[in-house]
Amino acid sequence: MIIEKFSMNLYEEVIEIWRKAGISVGSTDTKEELERMLQRNPDLFLIGKIDNKVISVVMGGFDGRRGYVHHLAVDPDYQKKGYGKILMDELMKKLLEMKVHKVHLFIEKYNKDVVEFYKYLGWEIREDLIMMSFIPDTNLYKMNI
Ligand SMILES: CC(C)(COP(=O)(O)OP(=O)(O)OC[C@H]1O[C@@H](n2cnc3c(N)ncnc32)[C@H](O)[C@@H]1OP(=O)(O)O)[C@@H](O)C(=O)NCCC(=O)NCCS
Repeated sequence: MIIEKFSMNLYEEVIEIWRKAGISVGSTDTKEELERMLQRNPDLFLIGKIDNKVISVVMGGFDGRRGYVHHLAVDPDYQKKGYGKILMDELMKKLLEMKVHKVHLFIEKYNKDVVEFYKYLGWEIREDLIMMSFIPDTNLYKMNI
């Protein structure tokens, strides 16, 4: 698998992988929103290709304090072959180069099996935190698009 930075011409392919892998594609995944994410984190939004076909994707982010991992997905036809680990290792390498102290990610409870994958990569569940969210504009935020 060859890892490259995401570019907007891969938008449709990436959305297709997210949908196939069961990731909820919401209002922050429109072309405009992904372009905004890419501009803020040009080195952390990564895709993996095999035979010139996109088979994996991860959106890394850094807000100046913490790193974040969003929407990691491997095309179901290519899962359980080590590609998810390879892509995450590359993202963690980049975050380390940026001297990020700590990285967070969120797992929806229906998807709790994936916890084992992250544990295998060395991640830990935080029992001491409660995650809360606030939606500034309910017209802007849509769970699904
Ligand atoms: C999570 C995901 C990215 C993992 O990618 P992958 O390429 O299949 O994972 P890898 O092959 O690199 O797995 C490495 C190890 O993690 C473990 N693992 C992977 N997926 C697992 C799962 N669903 N449940 C338990 N363990 C898992 C295995 O131990 C594996 O090691 P092994 O090959 O020795 O068995 C992929 O399953 C996926 O796209 N899932 C759907 C989308 C998703 O849930 N994304 C995460 C959102 S938070």
